[in-house]
Amino acid sequence: MSDPVQDLSAAPDGQAQHAAAAPVLLRTRADLRAAMQAERAAGRTLGFVPTMGALHDGHLSLLRIAAQHADRTLVSIFVNPTQFAPTEDLARYPRSEVQDISALAEAGCHFVFAPPVEEMYPAGSVTRVRVPGVSEPLEGEFRPHFFEGVATVVAKLLTVAGADVAVFGEKDWQQLQVIRRLVEDLCIPTRILAGPTLREPDGLAMSSRNAYLTAVARQQAIALPRALDGLAAFLAAGGDIADGTARAAAALLEAGFASVDYIAVADPATLAPLGPGPLAGPARLLAAAWLDGTRLIDNRAA
Ligand code: PAF
Repeated sequence: MSDPVQDLSAAPDGQAQHAAAAPVLLRTRADLRAAMQAERAAGRTLGFVPTMGALHDGHLSLLRIAAQHADRTLVSIFVNPTQFAPTEDLARYPRSEVQDISALAEAGCHFVFAPPVEEMYPAGSVTRVRVPGVSEPLEGEFRPHFFEGVATVVAKLLTVAGADVAVFGEKDWQQLQVIRRLVEDLCIPTRILAGPTLREPDGLAMSSRNAYLTAVARQQAIALPRALDGLAAFLAAGGDIADGTARAAAALLEAGFASVDYIAVADPATLAPLGPGPLAGPARLLAAAWLDGTRLIDNRAA
């Protein structure tokens, strides 16, 4: 395999060239494994960012973290069917592979793994990975299939890639904790790094699903981070957790959200619910709510 990194040295006229080097595109597990083994044999370390595509700046910030910790970077683009319920948005989930790959080229990514579904779930594959405890509350309650699908595909991806580090966003805080537990329990020798949530200028967390929102709903969506900020301030002032979460939910409905799956104050690592009463130590504030037919999630420290 040729070295994917092209020389971006000055053009003959002395102007710097900004043409981005295309990442090597891999479609099969066998090709991914071979490429990663070749990098390892050459003494290079690997940083991995698993994604479902529809990339935005939040994903690219995870790639920058991977690049800071490894010689070569790999991004997977795979809309994982097992983490969607039959009623959910698998069919309409945004797919933009060509734009994604060109954004990754711009960002200096070395390898892209974009397999077809049969490659990750070959005929006859039945094994699923469950992470009891941390995956059960919050998202686990409202999307019971979700973490089993995530844990299964992440276990497969980490196993095939064999990366030194893998980076996951704090935007999906509970997912990050599930993956940390999974990697520990399955003895997967990849170090998990967390990337802070990137936000739009008005505070809305970047998400591929923001693309579903109408212009009006996009304006209303900023009520979600604001509700969490308001809850954090309320708790910092000694307010009661149950009272604070009820007020935050009411603020969301008032702002135009159709319903609130949860607004919770939880232990940052185990996601066990905290309260009632005032906050007694570090906590994570997490919310999931529906706006304009789209389910938005967000979280922050308290
Ligand atoms: O966070 C995501 O995009 C997905 O849940 C992940 C981790 C890539 C697994 O499909």
